[in-house]
Amino acid sequence: MGKLTKLFEPIKIGTMEVKNRIVMPAMELGLAADDMVTDRFKAFYAERARGGAGLIVVGLAPTLYAGMFPPGGIGIYKDEFIPGLRDFVNLMHKYAAKVAVQISALQLLEKPDGSMEVVGPSNIGVERHANAPKPRPLTLDEIKRVVASYGDAALRAKKSGFDAVEINAIAGTGLISYFLSGHTNNRNDEYGGNIIKRARFLLECIESVKGAVGDDYPLLCRVSGADFMEGGNTLEDTKAVVPLMEKAGIHAINVSTGWHESPTPFIQMSIPRGNWIYLAEGVKDVVDIPIIGGTRINDPLLAEQILDCDRVDMVYAARALIADPEWPNKAKGGRFDEIRYCTACCACFDTVLEMRPVVCAVNARAGRELEYKIEPAKKHKKVFIVGGGPAGMEAARVAAMRGHHVTLADSKDQLGGQLLVAILPPHKEELGGLTRYLAGQMKKLGIAVELGQRVDIAVVQRAKPDAVIVATGATPIVPHIPGVDGENVVMALDVLTGKKEVGDNIVIVGGGMVGCEMAEFLVQKGKKVTIVEMLSKIGADIERANRWVVLGRLRQLGVRMEVNARVEEVTSQGVRVRRNGNLESFAGDTVVLAVGMQSDCSLAQELEGKVTELHIIGDSAKPGKIAQAMESAFAVARML
Ligand SMILES: Cc1cc2nc3c(=O)[nH]c(=O)nc-3n(C[C@H](O)[C@H](O)[C@H](O)COP(=O)(O)O)c2cc1C
Repeated sequence: MGKLTKLFEPIKIGTMEVKNRIVMPAMELGLAADDMVTDRFKAFYAERARGGAGLIVVGLAPTLYAGMFPPGGIGIYKDEFIPGLRDFVNLMHKYAAKVAVQISALQLLEKPDGSMEVVGPSNIGVERHANAPKPRPLTLDEIKRVVASYGDAALRAKKSGFDAVEINAIAGTGLISYFLSGHTNNRNDEYGGNIIKRARFLLECIESVKGAVGDDYPLLCRVSGADFMEGGNTLEDTKAVVPLMEKAGIHAINVSTGWHESPTPFIQMSIPRGNWIYLAEGVKDVVDIPIIGGTRINDPLLAEQILDCDRVDMVYAARALIADPEWPNKAKGGRFDEIRYCTACCACFDTVLEMRPVVCAVNARAGRELEYKIEPAKKHKKVFIVGGGPAGMEAARVAAMRGHHVTLADSKDQLGGQLLVAILPPHKEELGGLTRYLAGQMKKLGIAVELGQRVDIAVVQRAKPDAVIVATGATPIVPHIPGVDGENVVMALDVLTGKKEVGDNIVIVGGGMVGCEMAEFLVQKGKKVTIVEMLSKIGADIERANRWVVLGRLRQLGVRMEVNARVEEVTSQGVRVRRNGNLESFAGDTVVLAVGMQSDCSLAQELEGKVTELHIIGDSAKPGKIAQAMESAFAVARML
């Protein structure tokens, strides 16, 4: 495909003209401090504005109090925030991006003694937050106070120069969604009952905003297309409400997926790209204002296709723009192979849930734009990199961009390293995008790539490098267990790559991420699988956002999962384990080992003291995830 046309058509949202159809939606990323914008926050968004996004929505910004959410978000509940917000908006305008702030009252209210209380429409919590306090139902006076806070917050947004305000009505993150959803609202006054009555609170919030900022001030609302919660709103419910929102003066509707607490996965790698666009499309059927849709859209060609079929008017791309801030400009220039695609690994989501500032597995600069700059090197060096996996290629990319003369060598005849294997289990295809991007960069930056020859100390020394980077990766651990050298024992990687055959009844030793992926891979081939794990948890090293999804699939596929079971012996019939002091056996005709990786640092050890400058990165320094490999590569290459 050549030029994209639809994606780069301007559009009007009320009185606001947006230069293209790309929206970076609200994301709480942990980059602010004390509820105020910071230089770090500004640098992150300035890069996305410079990268060409038409509309950037920041927030969510609480209208009443902070708290409850991970720290590091912005607030809009006090006038003191206005100067900082104004500076931020001015910066964004330098890059011709429009900027909106998402506002939301959280489920918190201050008690007379100054402490905070969890509140809601009713005393119904959400099942997955079993330990959270049950909300206290709001009184009618309190509802008035919360509604007024939306008007106050919107006025602060207008005074700060924001081009628009977005009301958050989604995903269990704010009071509006609690009122809207039949899952959490069983009031029997004017704020409860059928979907129209449950929408009253939202409509009053809209009225409050319009009363404060006027009819012409662009106003968006983000709704869940459907809640995907038991007893929650369906797409039909949402379709009943949106015409009322349009009538109340909303200028565009941003349709997201369901509640965070839903048992349905939305954003994981296993969800097909564009899977949820039908929700926004359904909403578009019943209103005439612009509709924004998205989730799992990391490819501008798909975005173009969706717009071209008139399914929505604008597309949001959240994590895609964390992964590559220049996604819009690269797409506009037809430079698709230069896009660093989001793999939907959810590392960003996980770090924020862990109360840390955002991290991106494929973009080490995300959230670190101020310190992780790629600046020209003072002295151009000859850099020799051993290892063509993600760490080696990322180090080569950054070093070459800084002006160094880079050679990258790998004994394999293909670039990609562990990524070539990582894409083989079910639902992991997205990881292939990273290999394609990095390999493309090697070509574009003129990096000398030498493949398919043994790389030893002599090869390195012959190149006479000023600096050597070792990125030789890791090798699978073979545990010291009696019977492990038996003919019925194979390594997980050899099974994935097809080097080794397995029987019909498999015992996998090790229930970490590799063991779980192995299980799914084998079940898909019709095998019967038991995972034996010595820890108390299966998938302990899987990202929080993914673990429950993976475990759900394993359960559904009938994989037997045994924990707290330490393998003491492999026999020709399977494994013998010790659990709670007792010996037990699990039968299998093949035993697959997936007990972890160890650094391959033999070349690094040989080079120690024999080259002027030596760095060890990625798995060869410490086995970890892609995020750690990419970050360690970037950290070294930016300082060479
Ligand atoms: C770390 C993180 C924080 C988020 N915080 C918010 C938020 O505060 N408000 C909101 O409406 N959506 C929030 N979202 C959801 C995103 O706006 C978006 O809908 C979601 O990531 C799916 O889109 P994507 O597949 O393009 O990433 C968040 C997503 C992530 C990854």
